[in-house]
Amino acid sequence: MADKSTDKPIEVLLQERRSFPPPKSFKKSANMRNAGLFAKAKKDPKGFWAQAAKELEWFKPWKKVLEWDSPWAKWYIGGKLNASYNCIDRHLSNGRGNKAAIIWEGEPGDERVLTYRDIWREVNKFANVLKKLGVKRGDRVAIYLGMIPEIVIAMQACNRIGAAHSVVFGGFSAEALRDRINDAEAKVLITGDGGYRRGGIVPLKRNADEALKETPSIKSVVVVRRIGEAAHVDMHDGRDHWWHDLMADAPMWCEPEKMDSEDMLYILYTSGTTGKPKGIVHTTGGYLTGCHLINKWVFDMKDDDVFWCAADIGWVTGHTHIVYGPMANGVTQVMYEGTPDWPDKDRLWSIVEKYGVTIFHTAPTAIRTFMRWGTEYPQKHNMKSLRLLGSVGEPINPEAWVWYHKYIGGGRCPVMDTWWQTETGHPLISPLPGITTLKPGSATKPLPGVEADVVDDKGNSVPLGGGGYLVLTKPWPAMMRTIYGDPDRYVQTYWSRFPGKYFAGDGAKRDKDGYYWLLGRVDDVMNVAGHRISTMEVESALVDHPKVAESAVIGKQHEIKGQGICAFVTVKAGVDTNSALVDELKAHVAKKIGAIARPDEILFAAELPKTRSGKIMRRLLRDIADGRALGDTTTLADPAVVAKLKEQYEEE
Ligand code: PRX
Repeated sequence: MADKSTDKPIEVLLQERRSFPPPKSFKKSANMRNAGLFAKAKKDPKGFWAQAAKELEWFKPWKKVLEWDSPWAKWYIGGKLNASYNCIDRHLSNGRGNKAAIIWEGEPGDERVLTYRDIWREVNKFANVLKKLGVKRGDRVAIYLGMIPEIVIAMQACNRIGAAHSVVFGGFSAEALRDRINDAEAKVLITGDGGYRRGGIVPLKRNADEALKETPSIKSVVVVRRIGEAAHVDMHDGRDHWWHDLMADAPMWCEPEKMDSEDMLYILYTSGTTGKPKGIVHTTGGYLTGCHLINKWVFDMKDDDVFWCAADIGWVTGHTHIVYGPMANGVTQVMYEGTPDWPDKDRLWSIVEKYGVTIFHTAPTAIRTFMRWGTEYPQKHNMKSLRLLGSVGEPINPEAWVWYHKYIGGGRCPVMDTWWQTETGHPLISPLPGITTLKPGSATKPLPGVEADVVDDKGNSVPLGGGGYLVLTKPWPAMMRTIYGDPDRYVQTYWSRFPGKYFAGDGAKRDKDGYYWLLGRVDDVMNVAGHRISTMEVESALVDHPKVAESAVIGKQHEIKGQGICAFVTVKAGVDTNSALVDELKAHVAKKIGAIARPDEILFAAELPKTRSGKIMRRLLRDIADGRALGDTTTLADPAVVAKLKEQYEEE
């Protein structure tokens, strides 16, 4: 495995000297102010996590907190609960029934406000719809929708009846949707006639129809009408139903299933180092416990907050910081359908001002984009309501952090740089706003109840000041339980590199104060604008094109996206390599995977640099693309190949 961690200018990062102690207001009133809890949780992790679980409502208490047969975890054994009951019903009896749960704004400017009672009614009705369509406890339901309230309702309705949802990001292609449906053998697909994005229409149903040609497990399709006539959708008789038709006479009460703590709550696919995405499995009791607690602490969620996580629900951030975390905490949240620059580049800030958003969460790639657009856009709006900011998805460079703090947070809002993954369920390394002194660019330290380490190649802990691989050394409730249908891959991917330790796939360095500085992936996974894409997925899409013989894909440093996708391609004999082919190949990848995977650069190579055993040396390709001197080339079958490629790259 190539170690990319050394590629990063860590010395530059570690020279970062600015620090920001918690503001007095947070120290006084934050949900979590007890710094002693770190040591307490370390001493008695089970006791700590048992206490956290007690904040949920259980139909039946658990008998045992944890059973750990590494790497197989079971939490809250014997406990019974329901996620939708915890996220919705219990707020009706604690006085939050008429409180706004979701303040939604569509891209064209339409608005909807749904109270907790409204959501409760819709979820109950839709749960009954799903039952009527034959969905049973343990079944899987695929969801391919844009950012409209129905996506939240659909997910909560699934868990209410004990079906696992598998949300597929609306920007994914028909093929990506098909593969995910088939892997999970989903029975029902919930989609929409389309969604609005940057003034255009995302043809969700048409993509779905394409996918549905090869998804034998799907018996019914439910279609939300978001667009209307302009979407021009075909409804397939007997298979496709309009959401509003099915909801019209659905009963308003559906008894929540008493789920076992370890029953599957959802599957969410993420890229690994092979071309085949992994279905990450989360379970009910552990995930919801962690999600509830960490949202409450890291984002300091209070009853009068207006929380806004500007992520898409198609990613884990949207699951944890829109659907489950804020709702389990009963807060009001804002949800927005479209892009930040529609109709103009101040759209997000106008939403903050309009709804009085108090907590705002986004990704570094977005922050860098805002920086490029200029300060005039946030300065057009009164954003004094903001009190806390979040960042997630990729390392945040200190300059972007400081800009975010100053121009969005008005210099008064602490920035929570939260490190985590689809697999971990919620942030594991993150500051706490009432306790942690912040250092721009560092996700700071593991949260209470979380044990992390930085280890060397042999798995030995690296002393403070050094760098290596990030691992987690103790189980935590919201950890993934397995890869759907592929337990061996679960063991192989996460638990075999350093036996007994969870290998995150990230490089990290700790400074003398024990602060963690994340350095990016150390495997063949790219992080493109906060999206995880495997080099292999893009390579497979490229070689699927009839003119391509071979390809090697790497992540190349990119000012805004963190990493951009750079592909080296060799073509079949007799094929002309020209700019039309570059465009054709870029479009081909976008069609196979989705626009997020469209390569930024394609370079035609006569040959790719390979070891004598035939392995492509991506490390050298990264050197070429990032303009560095070439690393060790002694293991190459023909060192001339890479030298020539470097020359060619520099010329183009
Ligand atoms: O490389 C890390 C990066 O994103 C990866 C996880 O991607 P995904 O499962 O799609 O989840 C993204 C949202 C949680 C990690 O392995 N990453 C995530 N957050 C950070 C980060 N890298 C540095 N700093 C972060 N705060």
